Amino acid sequence: SEYGKFGPLIGAIDEGTSSARFIIFKANSSEVVAYHQKELEQIFPQEGWVEQDPNAILEVVTTCIQKAVESLVSLGGSAKDIIAVGVTNQRETTIVWDRSTGKPLHNAIVWLDMRTSSTIDKLLDTVPNKTRNKNYLKPLCGLPLSPYFSAVKLRWLSDNVDAIKNAMKKGTCCFGTVDTWIIWNLTGGPNDGKHVTDVTNASRTMMMNIENLDWDPLLLKFFEVPKSVLPEIKSSSEVYGYIADGPLKGVPIAGCLGDQQAALVGQMCLQKGQAKATYGTGCFVLYNTGDIRVNSGRGLLTTVAYQLGSKSQPHYALEGSVAVAGAALGWLRDNIGLLESAKDSQGIAEKATENGSVVFVPAFSGLYAPYWRQDARGVICGISEDTNSNHIVKAALEAVCFQVRDILDAMNEDCGIPLQLLKVDGGMTSNALVMQMQADLIGINVIKAGFTESTALGAALCAYWGVEPSKQGSPIPMTSGTTYTSLITDDERDMRYKQWKMAVDRSLGWEQ
Ligand code: G3P
Repeated sequence: SEYGKFGPLIGAIDEGTSSARFIIFKANSSEVVAYHQKELEQIFPQEGWVEQDPNAILEVVTTCIQKAVESLVSLGGSAKDIIAVGVTNQRETTIVWDRSTGKPLHNAIVWLDMRTSSTIDKLLDTVPNKTRNKNYLKPLCGLPLSPYFSAVKLRWLSDNVDAIKNAMKKGTCCFGTVDTWIIWNLTGGPNDGKHVTDVTNASRTMMMNIENLDWDPLLLKFFEVPKSVLPEIKSSSEVYGYIADGPLKGVPIAGCLGDQQAALVGQMCLQKGQAKATYGTGCFVLYNTGDIRVNSGRGLLTTVAYQLGSKSQPHYALEGSVAVAGAALGWLRDNIGLLESAKDSQGIAEKATENGSVVFVPAFSGLYAPYWRQDARGVICGISEDTNSNHIVKAALEAVCFQVRDILDAMNEDCGIPLQLLKVDGGMTSNALVMQMQADLIGINVIKAGFTESTALGAALCAYWGVEPSKQGSPIPMTSGTTYTSLITDDERDMRYKQWKMAVDRSLGWEQ
């Protein structure tokens, strides 16, 4: 055949908040041939501010590509067999650069960053009739006003950074989420790099109209964003451009989607009514609602799940976003010193004696779904003289499970048909204690994927479909994983959940 020993291959760039990886898959399969992962540094210039260096993001990505290709070659494969590359990324994180020099005009403002709380306050004042309704723009873009989304970060940058103001005036300013930054650079940067994004990433900016999937003039006016800075919106699966340099020179980039949407595809949730939760730095539950845009009355986001090819119908999803999941373990490790590594959390939490009723609400950057309260801050409740560090670690793990319960309750009410099972993936799913607590707290089966890199797989599939449109949207066979079933009664479940709700009440309104 025209291909080497592994047959045709697909590469997936997965650029997350804490690390990036490049995974080389056999085409149309979940079989991994080569892999490289590298940590990515976060910068905290002030309390509540979270940044990353855009050039460091690029460097980590290109190193991962380089090393994974080296390992492919050492296994007897060849970079020539890579027929397409997909990109998936942490969403909302905002990067602004100058298109003539290719230089970033500021550090990336990471999705978790809270600096725009005051920008939100100012924007709420401009809502007609003085209602300060944070859901004012939701019918247009599916999202509430929150520091989470890119438009607010972009507005902060244009208000506060002279170099950005000037570049906007000169017309050389480019805005992008992380997908856009990576694709622009890989396809040539200042030398004709493609300035594009996909519908899923664009649906997190607060600037795209959720119905017609185009930049919305009313939204751009509200945030005072000139259209000239914005990338072109494409589908999640088509050829955007060709890699300009390095070991993959000439390979098409043919798939692009936000990491949570990619995980939905990688978990084969391609049917209406299927849902997945990904436990990473944050935790994100996405529920495929098919071609219907469900407008949540209960704090969930309406978002684009994927669009496979420019002529296909988009699929939508309802999303419940949790800001702090794995990040709480990082905090216990780095700030409090209760853990040496996140991996130790299971063993430590298992030592917590049963009688503890400690609840930890890790609202470090406010609470996301379904509350959307930027004034919330972390609390630990229910401490007694028997409480020790084991209970605190266990409560940090349980907090993620409670927040997923909050979201599923809202989804079940919004959709009318209660979810029958929850597919899960991401780092924390290797913690069996967390998965059992999750099943206990939601009372439905939790199914851990047999293959854990769902995010990268979703990007790889979209890239494959981008060059093989005839296969678009057909699921691939997956090995089955582990099923967790609830071991507690409804009464026990409800009692524990009530304590969570009481603790959430205490976390609200802390930051005025
Ligand atoms: O919306 C933010 C999300 O895309 C980040 O994902 O995996 O880095 O927590 P993760």
